Amino acid sequence: MHISLAIHNLAYELERELNYRNIAFKKHDRLYFFDADYRPLFAQVTWLHCKTLPIISIKDGIKQLRALGKNWALFSINCHRRSQLIQDGLAKIKKDRIAFLAHPPKRPMGAKHPMGGWTLYDKNTIICSQETTSRYPLGICEFIENKTIPPSRAYLKLWEFFTLHHRPPTPGMRAIDMGASPGGWSWVLSALELKVTAVDKAPLDKKIAKLPNITFLKESAFALSPDTLPAIDWFFSDIICYPTRLLNLIQTWKHKGNIKNFMCTIKFQGEADFTAIDQFLAIPNSKIVHLFHNKHELTWWISED
Ligand SMILES: C[S@@+](CC[C@H](N)C(=O)[O-])C[C@H]1O[C@@H](n2cnc3c(N)ncnc32)[C@H](O)[C@@H]1O
Repeated sequence: MHISLAIHNLAYELERELNYRNIAFKKHDRLYFFDADYRPLFAQVTWLHCKTLPIISIKDGIKQLRALGKNWALFSINCHRRSQLIQDGLAKIKKDRIAFLAHPPKRPMGAKHPMGGWTLYDKNTIICSQETTSRYPLGICEFIENKTIPPSRAYLKLWEFFTLHHRPPTPGMRAIDMGASPGGWSWVLSALELKVTAVDKAPLDKKIAKLPNITFLKESAFALSPDTLPAIDWFFSDIICYPTRLLNLIQTWKHKGNIKNFMCTIKFQGEADFTAIDQFLAIPNSKIVHLFHNKHELTWWISED
């Protein structure tokens, strides 16, 4: 059995996703229990291969969890005080904010992932997993933010992507940043010493526009043709548009521009479009996640790595 923790305010998307995949589930608060071999996209974290531990006391619960591993994050759905007393008897979990490009936590669980997850299902039953989809407690990864330079908080999506999911491009590479305004992503890319072409119908923030390795094109991303620019190594998009429109744009730049590396936000107006998500997933080597810093959107990428 696996258990997914729904994203705050997006539980309905997790339910729609499981229904779309014909996966039966039981729901307790924000925890979704299911038996299929599937990792939902609209989950903050998924606890894999969960175990059920009958317990006779708080002490016994602590002892049994400790025997399985060191770091445990609680999501409480029941008997909240008893749950907290068990959690208090376990090792304190570090909840420090992380630095951009910081190494991920080590793996003291001895399993594939360092952070277990557990809940008290009823007074005498713990459900837990030593193998979860995130190295951070309940999938919460917060950065030491830069509150002075970036003109929007969108930069946190790129920080999370490069810290947790993909190593940053090599300095000197060429990147195009579609839907760049006000400039959070362009700021991150320029700090990584890429040569950035920023494209948007709206202007960049003045201090971002002044950065030496950013060229700004004030036009629609959909009006630009790949053959008007030098060869691009990385295509980034945070454009607000329908998923199918983004997909067409990607196909154009992939084929005409011969670009190998893409990282894009798939945004949804209204409900998530799972047919379109499957079209993205059908692109060879595609990966899709819901970043902790994504809102009602997903992050898709392909790369040569
Ligand atoms: C979420 S914001 C991007 C934030 C940006 N990534 C940052 O870090 O500051 C979405 C942007 O998409 C832009 N956009 C919408 N339609 C566009 C189009 N057809 N061409 C280019 N940009 C577009 C909007 O003007 C808006 O600035």
